[in-house]
Amino acid sequence: MTDTADPIADGTTETDRLPVDPTLVEAMAVLDTETAAARHADLAAQVRRANELYHGQDAPELTDAEYDALFRDLVALETAFPQLVTPDSPTQRVGGAPSGTFDEVRHRHPMLSLSNAFSHDELRAFDTRVRRGLGLPPPPEPAPDLRYVAELKIDGLAVSLHYERGRLVHGATRGDGSTGEDVTPNLRTIRSIPHRLTELATLDVRGEVFMPKSEFARINAERDEAGLPLYANPRNSGAGSLRQKDPDVTARRLLSAWLYQLLEEDGADGEERTQWAALERLERLGLPVNPERKEAPDIEAVIAFTETWREKRHELPYETDGVVVKVDRADQQARLGIVSRAPRWAIAYKYPPEQVETVVEDIVPYVGRTGTLTPVAHLRPSKVAGSTVARATLHNLDEVRRKDIRIGDWVVLQKAGDVIPEVVRPLVDRRTGVEREFEMPASCPVCGSAIVRDEGAVRHYCPNLACPARVAQEFQHFVGRGGMDIEGAGWKVLEQLLQRGMVRRRSDFFRLTVEDLESLERFGPKSADNLHRSIGRARRRPLGRILHALGIPQVGWQTATDLTQWLVEALPPGAGEPVGGAGGWLTRASAFLRETATTTPERFEAVIGIGPTVAATLTAYFSDPATRNAIDELVEAGVEAELPAPRAAVTDAGPLSGRRLVVTGTLEGFSREEAEEAIRAAGGKVAASVSKKTDYLVAGENAGSKLAKAGSLGVPVLDEAGFRRLLAGEEG
Ligand code: IVH
Repeated sequence: MTDTADPIADGTTETDRLPVDPTLVEAMAVLDTETAAARHADLAAQVRRANELYHGQDAPELTDAEYDALFRDLVALETAFPQLVTPDSPTQRVGGAPSGTFDEVRHRHPMLSLSNAFSHDELRAFDTRVRRGLGLPPPPEPAPDLRYVAELKIDGLAVSLHYERGRLVHGATRGDGSTGEDVTPNLRTIRSIPHRLTELATLDVRGEVFMPKSEFARINAERDEAGLPLYANPRNSGAGSLRQKDPDVTARRLLSAWLYQLLEEDGADGEERTQWAALERLERLGLPVNPERKEAPDIEAVIAFTETWREKRHELPYETDGVVVKVDRADQQARLGIVSRAPRWAIAYKYPPEQVETVVEDIVPYVGRTGTLTPVAHLRPSKVAGSTVARATLHNLDEVRRKDIRIGDWVVLQKAGDVIPEVVRPLVDRRTGVEREFEMPASCPVCGSAIVRDEGAVRHYCPNLACPARVAQEFQHFVGRGGMDIEGAGWKVLEQLLQRGMVRRRSDFFRLTVEDLESLERFGPKSADNLHRSIGRARRRPLGRILHALGIPQVGWQTATDLTQWLVEALPPGAGEPVGGAGGWLTRASAFLRETATTTPERFEAVIGIGPTVAATLTAYFSDPATRNAIDELVEAGVEAELPAPRAAVTDAGPLSGRRLVVTGTLEGFSREEAEEAIRAAGGKVAASVSKKTDYLVAGENAGSKLAKAGSLGVPVLDEAGFRRLLAGEEG
């Protein structure tokens, strides 16, 4: 690939670098210079802010379409008033700056962005520009020497991976295009990214890390349950997961990757270098390459490819928001070159956001597991982004008011990140006067208790712990997949058990007999036996799962896991001690939690990963006598906890505490991963490149430029024996 090739002088104007809308430019051109300058400052500030929210904090406020519109205005304005283009204009840079939490990595080749096309005509205009740049005849003349590769545009987070002699050495995010963040340990947790290639090749490869739609849904459900703000789409969720300080957190989120760009490979073979061949080479090296791609003889074939995927893309397990079109031949790419922000040889065709208009037939408050009343829009069913949508959550009353959505309104509906249906806004012009404002009911629609809204809080809730809606959902959570995971205990079964009073408390599940189950509708001896067995299996579950199953407010998987880890460290079970049964470990854990809550609740706040709000909930929960009974009853009914292995203590006080090391070359007794792991375990930090801040360079066989650099900077160099001594705490 040829990111760095010089653009050729081919008579292409500056405006060719991004598709500009000529009517927009005309509209801008009539402004006087002062107004134009003010407008430029304003637009640039808005785009900068949006970039920061999107790339820096993974929390966009604008939709992609809104952002694109802003950006287009800015480009049009700069086209009309070229004197307004400054080096720091957002049109001149790529993405957001590094967040400052990770080590910085300078990219050997800048990570570029792509210009966008929003219509087939804009793709044809791209083709015309490419032909002009290559001195080929304009369409409709044939240009047999020009081929394109069409790939799906993955809506994820761009990363750059560096392999040395077949081993994954480091990986970084794009950052601002020149400097990214070193997220190597996090990238190593992604299963589809191999730690070793099938050959001892040294190369840079780029692609997109993304979160599959199913994983996005799972994580948002979890965040919802924990009372955390939801991720807007899989892209943000994926980015947030990759940029976690703790790689363990990344590892728990199932990220994946598609790679699409091969850079500077040593010893290229004689055959013609093309994008298509590069993708095949990546595949042979064992790297994940998206199979949905096309070698297109001309732009019309590319356009056909965009049409093939327009609807079908919704069936893919990951997000794609368009098609990337690339000139196939590397020599042609080199001749076309790049202009400040994007290569001239590639363009991203973007599908318009999937939005439909429909009617809000009703807004209905639903009572959740914790009593929260959530207003849900019942919609005239309509097809959007591949499925029929009839319901969309409106989250809370403040949201309903902020968006001004009324019963009877025509509204714009979209799928956020093509997954969660979202009511975007009402079509105010279409109001006829019969629309009604939604009001929260004064009493619970299920049990009739007076609805409460705490001072300053957004949520309305039913305070009745025995409210049948709450109870049913608590039980559903308890037996469900996020809870004790009792296979076969679905809603229909649960409903009967509750209605017949066979289950009143959680522990009752574990006392059900085969005869009890046989008495249920549509149950025979076989199905009763099956369910009885799966209840038996659910008696023994990991402690984190049991804590999660209890449905403690604001405690999702993450907190349940953190809490478990803390318990195992604070309260190690004695050797050979039974983990369940009366007097066993679960009982001790429960007593310990209760004691902490009543005497030293500040200890909860000291648990890694737990903040003051969750700590307060834990205190309230575990000091409540009903809680003790719930856990004790489970123990009495035979529930046992499985324990995780204690985590190797992450120490700050190891022999390498505060030290920054770089590893290079091949070591005898350590793989690269093992050496890095050993440094971290000793409290040190691993950096990818040698700088003045490096404390030691560990150099094995065949160390190259890093050794030279250490020499020139006066950084101490250790061989393997010296490294071992250092790890053992024998300095110098
Ligand atoms: S090629 C120099 N191919 O979309 C060319 N990019 O909006 C570099 N993207 O910066 C990019 N899928 O992060 C390329 N198949 C694909 C892609 C892709 C997603 C991302 C990439 C790029 C952004 C541009």
